Amino acid sequence: MINFANKTIDETRQGEAYAGELATEATPGKRFYIESYGCQMNFSDSEIIASILHTEGFGPTQNVEDADLIFLNTCSIREKAEQTVRKRLTEFKKIKKQRPAMLIGVLGCMAERLKSKLLEEEKLVDIVVGPDAYRSLPQLIDEADSGTKAVNVLLSREETYADISPVRLNSNGINAFVSIMRGCNNMCAFCVVPFTRGRERSRDDVSIVAECKDLFEQGYKEVTLLGQNVDSYYWVDPATNHPVDFAMLLEKVAQISPSLRIRFSTSHPKDITDKVLHTMKAHDNICKYIHLPVQSGSTRILQLMNRTYTREWYLAKVKRIKEIMPDCAISADIITGFCTETEQDHEDTLDIMRQSQYEYSYMFAYSERPGTLAAKRYTDDVPDEIKKGRLDEIVKLQNSLSLETNKKDIGKVFEVLIEGNSKKSDKQWMGRNSQNKVMVFDKIENSQLQPGRFVHVIAESCTQGTLMGKIVNLS
Ligand code: 5AD
Ligand code: SF4
Repeated sequence: MINFANKTIDETRQGEAYAGELATEATPGKRFYIESYGCQMNFSDSEIIASILHTEGFGPTQNVEDADLIFLNTCSIREKAEQTVRKRLTEFKKIKKQRPAMLIGVLGCMAERLKSKLLEEEKLVDIVVGPDAYRSLPQLIDEADSGTKAVNVLLSREETYADISPVRLNSNGINAFVSIMRGCNNMCAFCVVPFTRGRERSRDDVSIVAECKDLFEQGYKEVTLLGQNVDSYYWVDPATNHPVDFAMLLEKVAQISPSLRIRFSTSHPKDITDKVLHTMKAHDNICKYIHLPVQSGSTRILQLMNRTYTREWYLAKVKRIKEIMPDCAISADIITGFCTETEQDHEDTLDIMRQSQYEYSYMFAYSERPGTLAAKRYTDDVPDEIKKGRLDEIVKLQNSLSLETNKKDIGKVFEVLIEGNSKKSDKQWMGRNSQNKVMVFDKIENSQLQPGRFVHVIAESCTQGTLMGKIVNLS
């Protein structure tokens, strides 16, 4: 189980079946069904894939039974993620036995990592496509239709899919994700991403701003700019030779409208600059929330992980964020049980969590990935029970930190973007404040109050995962 304070990644992010707004249109021709696993980037890629398929006349469906094509957009980050996909493939293969004309495609990181091995291992898979090869999907489908196994796992140094307008799948019409760059050059020792998603490249700023503006004009209220390492965003306009860095891009997107909220993910502690922090501070519509993965609190482990910062550097960044924006929330990713991790290293992680006062964290047991620097250089020598025990301690601490930070918010008023009914009751709304905290509050008689509206809510009580309150005025 992957823990995220009081939730699990399995509950929050994985394995959603997609059929977007196009599902209601009568789309003649073949139908595709797509399931996405893993990070937001994968979910965003599925929207690009849907767009490519739509242009070729394929329509989405939410029912496997109606599908001519089944796609799994996969994740390789931990072994568990791959096992989940393999299980799902076994289920789809049973369907294919009854309907041999149906094609099964594996897309994304697992396709890239295993390449044609996947066709050999998983006999009934017909198509294997890596993250930079989605434009070739229509040809690959043709090939597979004529009985040839189709594979394209070429990585690219340029592909950003900048010209493709994503088809928003499973969208609430309020929040959207916009990919601003692809790949990663960081080579953290534990991480498979540089191998599955290739070299880092930034998308041109003009198409990013145009996409965000278009979303705003369609009624969306919040965009999240996505990249493995957004702080290293860098684009040089070929016509003017003017460079655009991440702070400048943020500013451009923030200027689309004061009522468009902007979030971004993920930041790297070594790269986030004062310029970015000052840009965040200068614009009320840039949310005061930074996801700043720490991975470990021990300088020795950080060095082995090739994170290129020390514990002190990380803590100085946290201090700087709070100096510039005292109300900024910070969350982290934490890996427990990395190679050679001792009890003292683990204590250092618990300590950095206490000092950083994370609002929440995504916490994982180390899972060795073939081909990574760590797999080549070190032994995965922390026993599973110890990893699990340490993970439990980390989760417990995070739960208490989350509760503490929520308690501090009681009595404060926040601007909240209403996203829908609360999980528990259709008499209550749920939304998030700038700090990305979930707030739940009673509905009031007012026909204007609908999902997509901003309201001011006072926090009156809390759990570790939610602030409960009441509306004090409309925005
Ligand atoms: N084992 C466990 N967690 C990992 N992550 C990345 N690679 C691994 C691995 N091999 C975590 C990191 C990263 C997040 C997306 O996933 O914490 O920030
Ligand atoms: Fe993986 Fe590190 Fe790149 Fe994040 S920054 S994707 S953890 S290599």
